[in-house]
Formats: sequence, C-alpha cells, structure tokens
Amino acid sequence: MAGAQPTPAEEAREAAVEAALGALGLDAKTRLLAGQDMWTLPALPEIGLASLVMSDGPIGVRGVRWTADDPSVALPSPTALAAAWDPELARRAGVLLAQEARRKGVHVLLAPTVNLHRSPLGGRHFECYSEDPYLTGVIGAGYVTGVQSGGVGTTVKHFVANDAETERFTVDNLVSARALRELYLAPFEAIVANARPWGVMTAYNSVNGTTMTEHRHLVEEVLRGEWGFDGVNVSDWTAARDTVGAVRGGLDIAMPGPRTVYGPALARAVRDGEVEEALVDAAVRRVLRLAARVGVLAGAEPVVPEPPAPVDGEALAREIARRSFVLVRNERAALPLKPHGTVALIGAAARDARVLGGGSATVFPARVVSPLDGLTAALPEGTLRYAVGADPATELAVAGRGFRLRAVCRDADGTVIGTRSAPNGLVQWMGSDLPGGVTHDTLHTVELTGTFTPRATGPHTFGIKGLGAFTLTVDGTTYYDDVQRPGKDDPFETFFGAPVPHARTELTAGEPVEVSLVHTVRLPDDLSMTVVTFALAHAEPRRDPDELIAEAAEAARNADTAVVVVATTERVESEGFDRTDLRLPGRQDDLVRAVAAANPDTVVVVNSGSPVELPWREEVAAVLLGWFPGQEGGAALADVLTGAHEPGGRLPTTWGSLADAPVTRVVPAGGELPYTEDVFIGYRAWEKAGRTPSYPFGHGLGYTDWAYESLVVDGGTARVRVRNTGERAGREVVQVYVAPAGPGPERPARRLAGFAPVEAGPGESVEVGVELPARAFEVWDETAGRWECVKGSYEITAARSIADHGLTAPINV
Ligand code: BGC
Repeated sequence: MAGAQPTPAEEAREAAVEAALGALGLDAKTRLLAGQDMWTLPALPEIGLASLVMSDGPIGVRGVRWTADDPSVALPSPTALAAAWDPELARRAGVLLAQEARRKGVHVLLAPTVNLHRSPLGGRHFECYSEDPYLTGVIGAGYVTGVQSGGVGTTVKHFVANDAETERFTVDNLVSARALRELYLAPFEAIVANARPWGVMTAYNSVNGTTMTEHRHLVEEVLRGEWGFDGVNVSDWTAARDTVGAVRGGLDIAMPGPRTVYGPALARAVRDGEVEEALVDAAVRRVLRLAARVGVLAGAEPVVPEPPAPVDGEALAREIARRSFVLVRNERAALPLKPHGTVALIGAAARDARVLGGGSATVFPARVVSPLDGLTAALPEGTLRYAVGADPATELAVAGRGFRLRAVCRDADGTVIGTRSAPNGLVQWMGSDLPGGVTHDTLHTVELTGTFTPRATGPHTFGIKGLGAFTLTVDGTTYYDDVQRPGKDDPFETFFGAPVPHARTELTAGEPVEVSLVHTVRLPDDLSMTVVTFALAHAEPRRDPDELIAEAAEAARNADTAVVVVATTERVESEGFDRTDLRLPGRQDDLVRAVAAANPDTVVVVNSGSPVELPWREEVAAVLLGWFPGQEGGAALADVLTGAHEPGGRLPTTWGSLADAPVTRVVPAGGELPYTEDVFIGYRAWEKAGRTPSYPFGHGLGYTDWAYESLVVDGGTARVRVRNTGERAGREVVQVYVAPAGPGPERPARRLAGFAPVEAGPGESVEVGVELPARAFEVWDETAGRWECVKGSYEITAARSIADHGLTAPINV
C-alpha cells in the first residue's frame, strides 16, 4: 500500500529479493518472466528459486492437471458466493482454497474474477460476483485475504473491463474515465487497498485503444502509482503479444510457455537497445517478491510459514451453498416442505446436477451430491419420487457413467510407451504431465479404450471433442476416421468447443460393448502450449419430450409438493462465448408450466450461474435460485427445502427479462464495443430506465420476517434497528443505499453504500452500524482527473433490497 511502512519481515524479504536479483544475468532474468509451460515459471537453482506454480481458480484449485483423476473441492460459483453477502464467508472460502493449493503444490491461485455483470449475456457472468462494484470489492477482498492468509498468492482478474466474451482476444472496449473509475476499476482498487493482493492478471481486451497487457496508464500510473500495488502482473493466457509494448506497459509475466514474447525475445530487445534493462529488473523484482512471499525463494521467510488449521472442504462447500440460495418467491407457505409430505422431484439437473460453470473455472470434484442424492438422504423413505421431465442437454457429454476407460500411448511404430487410468472420457495433459515414460517427442497416438455398459436400451450416440485426427470404434464398427478442424479462430476452441456426434448405435441396457477412440497427436513446431486434449463423448437414447413432460406432470399430481430443478447447460454458460438469450434451454419452460398446472404447490429450483428468464414465475408457489452450487449442492438444497436451514442469499445482480434489461450489447462492431451506458449498469440502469425487473438487486427471503424499526445516521454511520417478527431464528442482510437528493452531476438514483448481516431469535431486535464510505458521495471528475465529493443533501435508506423503501433519513454532506 502507498505510504504503508514495511514490516521487518517485509524488509528481510525485500533484501533477499535484491540479493537474488543482483545474482542474475539478463538471460536468466528474462527467462524468469516467461512461462516454461502451461502453468509454471522456470526454477533458477543458482539463486535458490524453485518453480512457481499457478492454477485456476476461482471455485477450486485445479492444479497442473486438467482431468478428473486429480480431484479438487468444488465450491459454489462466484455469483453464489456473492449472493451470501458475507465477506467473512468469502474469507473462509479463501482459506480452504489455500489449503487445496498447498495440497496440490500450487503457489498462486488465478482468481478471483472481479469483472462486473455489465450485461446478463456475458458468458462468464457466473464467474464474476455482482453488478455492483462495492459488493464485488468486499467479497473479492474477503476472498483474497483468505487465500493469502494460507500463504498462497492470488491474481485478481481480469484487469480491466473484461466483461464479455465475444471477440475477447481483440475487442476494444470504449469506456469513459468516469465509468472506469466508478465501476470497472473500483473492485480492483478496493481489493488492493483492503487485501493487498500479491498479483493481478491483465485481460485479453483493449481499453480505449490499448490492449491491457500494454496499458501503461492503467497498470503503471493507476494500479501501481496511485494505488500502491506492489504485486506481479501476469498476462491472461496468450494475451501478451508484443515484447516491447508489454514490458513498457508494466507486464511482468507472459503466460503460458514455452513460446512467449518474453524470454529470449526480451533479452534480445534489451541488447538491441529497445528496452531498458531497468524495466526488466523491475519486473523480475516483483516476480521474486512473489516467490519470496509464497516461500519458493531460498533465504526468504514466506509470509505464512505454517499452514493454517485444516478446513473441512465438504462441510464448507455445503454451508456456502445453502447460504447462497436466494428464495425469491414463497407463496402458499410452500417452503419449507411439510414434514412427512410426499415430494415429486423433477428435472434432468435434479439427477445429473450442474455444479459449476464452463471454461477455465472448471475443476473436477471427487464427488457430486445431486438434488436427488441430497433429498433421498434427507426425506423419509418412500416419500420421494423422481421424474426426468425434460432434458435441456442438446449435445453429447464427456463419457462418464457406465464407461470403464484407460489411455494407451503409442509411438510412431505403434509400440505402447505408456498408459494412464482414465476416470472419464476426457484426456487433457498439459506440459510435462504425461503418463510415465512418455514424452512429447515420442508420443504419436493416444487411445482411449475400454467398455461401456448402457443403463438404457435404445440408440446411443458417440462423438469426439477436440481438434485433429481421430478414429472412433464402437462395438467393432469404425464410425469415424478423419480430421476434426477448428470452427473458429480461438486458441481455446479445443477446450471449449462442442463435441461432434459421429456414431449412433442400438445398445441394450446392461450389455457391455468395447469402445475405442484413437487420437493422432501432432504438436506443430510453433505451438506455444504443449497440450494433448480431446474427449470421447456420449449421449443416452432420447425419449419423446411430450411423454417425459406428461410423466412428470403425473408424478407432480400424485405428490404433496413438486420440486422442479431447471438448469442451463455448458453450451449456455461458459467461458469462450456470450449468451444470445436468457431462456432456459430445451422444453424446461413447458415442463414447469405442466407441473404447476398439475400441482399448485410447485417449487422451482433454478440451477444456473447467472440470470435466466422465468416466464412462469407467478404461476408457481416458490422459486429458489440455486446458482451453480458446487459439489455439495444437493445436500445444501435438502438442508434448505426441509427447513433445517433457511436459504441465506440475496441477489447480487438484478434478474429480469432480456427485453427489459437496459444493457445488453456484448457484440463489438468493427472491433469496438462502446460502453454507451456509461455509469449506468445493473440496478443503476434499471432505475434510470424506470423499469421493474423480475427480482431486484438485494432481494431474498428467509424463513422468518423482519421489521425495520429505526434508522439514525450518526456521523458517517447508519445505525439500523431490525426485529425478527417471525417464529424462528434467522439472518437478515441489512442494506444501506445512498440517494442524491440535491443538484449535482448526473448520478445513479441510488447506490449500495454498505451492508451488515444480523442474526436474531424470534421476537428479538438487533442494532447494527453500517459505515458510509466517502466514495458513496463522490464522483470521478473527468476534467480534473480526481474524485470529487458532491456536497448537498442525500437520502439514506436502510432496506431489504433496492426496491424496498425500508426506512429513510435525510443527511447533508
Ligand atoms: C482465462 C483466465 C484463466 C486462464 C488460464 C484464460 O483463458 O481467461 O481466467 O486464468 O485462461 O486457464
């Protein structure tokens, strides 16, 4: 932090860093700034530096392998974590993630993602916290504090304005200085000030004409200069494009390797006089500082010498999930469920839960508790019925249930050179992570081979995900022997692209067949990522959709309560592309309507990471937003449906229809995406447009009721007294909004200034103080280039959501 006095430990670390830096020649220094493979930096034994290992992030720690045989605890999606409105819970999540990182030998977690929910169409919406910069900043600061308290670094990402995916590598986002300061930079600023992150990751996109890995103004002047950030700046993967531009723009590490714009290219630029060596030294100093902090530089005491007390990951994943669920509607006292009532559980995602969003945020949990598993365990025997109702999956999934596979590696002569067990149909080997005895030089083909035992009789579909040459054989017949080519110009297409169906064959339940998928591995010379990645994919026989819906309605009719789980799919919410609509995929809307017509006590659980349209929401008794709930989601759902715990979440983002959403443009024109809405996104934009969303920012019900009794603004603090007027203990999130009431520049009608959770037993009242930060009364003055307090009158509101009028008090600033 600017102005903060270094502690003796920091001084000692800085001394070790200077000594190490002084012992390095130019080639070693530039080598250290370039990834040696997908996830690591080179070790420099001559200065006692071990290899720094980085890994995604943010809901778990994947580690250097990208496959199910290296499992990780999977926490709920970042939208869910933010929905708990609890920085302390975010801190505890961080502590668990540091424990996971240490277990996997990871020193830096590539997280948190603190871009904003500018538009509901953003493909990585689920991976970001909120539409509100203040809420994003406090949740992010809690998370970073937690991870780093475990001795593991973070890279707050993606700096900055990486709020959508379309043309993500090249888009030039045109954002006013005011919108940057008041919205997009604000979470980064708050996290730097309050949690001192050891890293940031600069984004793929440009801002106002300059790509972020070369953005001297935002990196050197704002982030480092004004805010005093002393950590490293790592590029997003493949985002560094120009040696001189990047080093002058303040980029320290170019990832991934082995081929980057740093390393030998940077040494050459220094020798040719294009780059001053002092810039290289500054970058190396920051990398060594990170190494010292995480304990991989000999002679430097790490910030956290001993790991913190162990955390139970499963229990925490379950606690965060139930604290994140947002009950947006609860009529007919539908929830909690009546004890001993019968329940019809409906939906494909109730059985095959979707627990996380797609892309680099993917981790592989050792187990997943689906809603069906969770409710089966929690409800009395014989009271639960399941029906699939509608399956939104339109594409093949990675081969899983029923498959027994292993990967066999061969050289060009066809000799087996290594094998590895394959827990599912995904092969994803990065860098040197190859089966024992195998190298990239000798590897010619990888064969996934084994058996598949169907659980249903009928036409099964098999396919391939990945690029390159493949041969697919099922039950002795070769269905495909050709080359799959990329559909679009995205280096990550091979990771995020859809599987292509190639074989359809009649199989009988319980009768195993042989399957084989051979991939001929050819790594072109100029490939910057040494990755072997492909998957065998499969889909079960599909039944008639109308028949499935009718069957579900029938099950609902015969039960006391119907619980329908609706979901998005990996094709809908993922890194790599934006959404084009907010509808639930497949026949799920029809399913909900049919079930609700059959049973008035229909509860809908929405399993999506970001907003979807709920056109039937007034026709059902209750709606519970469950996000991507992480590996223990089904257990948490049972906790909440049965009333063992109340759902604790409040909306971190406005939910409404696409037609009403004020900011929807995510598609650039001519490479540019103007943020024409300026400082009006999220609830700021809904209020400006005078539109009413389906569910407002901050909204969420528990199982008790609250009365707001008094609000007194005293100095810089809003004191709020609330009473639990219901019949059970509960937890409330008291929200405080600031509304300008006098003349001044155009400003949002209201903004969130602070919040505080309270807990109270039935009948009890509690008082909390919420500090009003100076920033709540400031705007960024573009002409002066500084924050200006807008003096005058304001109205302070303490309320349950932005749409609730709660209690108000006028103040003058
Ligand atoms: C993503 C980053 C991620 C990196 C490494 C990129 O495509 O944008 O968020 O950390 O890949 O997986």
